[in-house]
Amino acid sequence: MRLFFAVELPTEVRLALGRLRGEDGDYRWVDPSSMHVTLAFLGEQSETARGRLEQLGVVGATSAHAVRLQLGEAGSFGPRTAPRVLWVGLAGELPALGALQSTLSTLLRDAGFSLEDRPFSPHITLARRRNTARSRPIWPPSDVPQHQFTIAELILFQSQLSPKGATYTALGRFPLGG
Ligand code: 2AM
Repeated sequence: MRLFFAVELPTEVRLALGRLRGEDGDYRWVDPSSMHVTLAFLGEQSETARGRLEQLGVVGATSAHAVRLQLGEAGSFGPRTAPRVLWVGLAGELPALGALQSTLSTLLRDAGFSLEDRPFSPHITLARRRNTARSRPIWPPSDVPQHQFTIAELILFQSQLSPKGATYTALGRFPLGG
């Protein structure tokens, strides 16, 4: 099973982000119900590893506390003229979110899981470019909604891929602060 740790945004924030959706042609837009901020991507894992990951999720979440965030600026990954990923960033208690991500990554690496070595760049992916895409997106939007919210749990998600896109299922929810 394909697994990753993430934090989730309140429904009203996800719905507000869903309103930034452009037309469907060249980009595959993420459904608001699937929007999240990835902290650690683990890739394909066994059922045994899943049990261990749940234990590490408890430890990582207990060592942190609830994080107050707000939506930040919109940005993209990839070439300027043909960005691969359109996202919205975060602001607020980013050092606390970074500390949670760093503690979790250390726990995971110490337990033998391999993670990508890239610096943490917290973002909410809203759209991914299709291979057939030809045009440039209308991005960033002139107005990103202003929302403040609290992140109170760390989540272990399973990602199931299909031609229609990924489906995410929460396998474990770990309250921040225990
Ligand atoms: P994203 O947050 O930029 O969209 C599940 O696939 C989640 O894990 C996605 O949200 C994705 O990033 C993130 N992720 C990080 N590294 C990944 C990788 N190498 N392959 C697939 N997803 C990855």
